[in-house]
Amino acid sequence: MLPYAHCSPQCKPQSQRMPARLVAWVCGICTGGTLDGASLRDFKLSFQVDNIRKEFSSQNGSVVAIENINFLAGAEEFICIVGPSGCGKTTLLKIIAGLALPTSGSVNFLSALNPNQLRSAMVFQDLALFPWMNVLDNVAFGLEALGVDKAQRRTRALKFLDRLGLAGFAKNYPHELSGGMRQRAAILRAFLCEPQILLMDEPFGALDAQTRLVMQDELLRIWKEFKHTVVYVTHDIEEAILLGDRVLVMSGRPSNIRADIRVELPRPRHLTDQSHPEIADLRFQIWKMLEEEVRKEVGSINV
Ligand SMILES: Nc1ncnc2c1ncn2[C@@H]1O[C@H](COP(=O)(O)OP(=O)(O)OP(=O)(O)O)[C@@H](O)[C@H]1O
Ligand SMILES: [Mg+2]
Repeated sequence: MLPYAHCSPQCKPQSQRMPARLVAWVCGICTGGTLDGASLRDFKLSFQVDNIRKEFSSQNGSVVAIENINFLAGAEEFICIVGPSGCGKTTLLKIIAGLALPTSGSVNFLSALNPNQLRSAMVFQDLALFPWMNVLDNVAFGLEALGVDKAQRRTRALKFLDRLGLAGFAKNYPHELSGGMRQRAAILRAFLCEPQILLMDEPFGALDAQTRLVMQDELLRIWKEFKHTVVYVTHDIEEAILLGDRVLVMSGRPSNIRADIRVELPRPRHLTDQSHPEIADLRFQIWKMLEEEVRKEVGSINV
C-alpha cells in the first residue's frame, strides 16, 4: 500500500485521504490545475492499479501473465480492455475484484465508499448461475449476501428482470433458459448489487448480434443511472469504441498496457455514423496494435 497523506485544506472532502503520490492529482481537481500537462478538472479518482505483476507457477513451470500494469480509473468512467487471447485480461479483472492476489503490486481504492455499497461485482466470462436456484433467486443472490430482506430482494430483482425481458422466467431454472437468457440473468445479478465498480469479462460474447445491441444499450443506460465505474473486457474493437470512455490495449504475454486511448466521441454513438470518420481511424489504430501483438505470439509459437 502507498502511504496516505492529507490534501490541502482547500481540497474537497472526498479527496482528503489519498496516497501521497496522488495528492498532486487531487489538488489538480480542486484547483482545476494540471499535472504533467493533463487537465484533471473533472477527474474523480476511483481506483489505481499500481505496478501489478502476476506469475502463475505449476509443476510444468511458471507463466508471467501480466507485468507492470499501471492505470488510474476515474469514478464513473467506462474503461474497455482489449488484448490478445491469453494475455491476462481475466487475471487482471480478478485481481481488481479481489478474487486473486497479485504476485506484486497493488490495487488502491481511492473514492470514498458507501459502507452499505458493494465495492465491486464481477460478471464472469463463463456463466456463473447456480443450477439449483431459480432465476429470481439467482439474480437476488447478491442482495441476500448484502443482507437485504426477502421482500425487498424480490421487488428489486423483479423490476430488473422485467427491464431485461426475463420477468416471465423468474421461476424457471437455468437449464430451462436459452444461453442468451442465462447470460442476461448473470449480468443482472451484478447490476442488482449496485456495486461501485462493475467488472465485466466479455459479458455479451455469447449473445446473438441483436440481443447484444439491446444489452449494450441497456448497459449504458444502467451505467448512467447508477454511476458505476465500469471495467469491461471485450474481444470486439467496435464494442470497445461504442462503449468506452477509454480503451486500454494490452500487449501479448507477459502483458502490459500498450496504449490507453481516450474515446472523445459524443454519446450515443453509432458506429455506422458517417459524421464521425474518426471511428474508422480509431478502429484501424487499435486493430493494427492487436494484429502486431497476435503476430508476435504466433511467431513465438512457430519458432
Ligand atoms: N489459475 C491459473 N493457473 C495457472 N495459469 C493460469 C491460471 N489462470 C490463468 N493462467 C494463465 O495466465 C495467462 C492469462 O490468462 P487469462 O485467463 O487471464 O487470459 P485472458 O486474456 O483472459 O484470455 P482470453 O482472452 O482467452 O479470455 C494464460 O497463459 C493462462 O494460461
Ligand atoms: Mg479471459
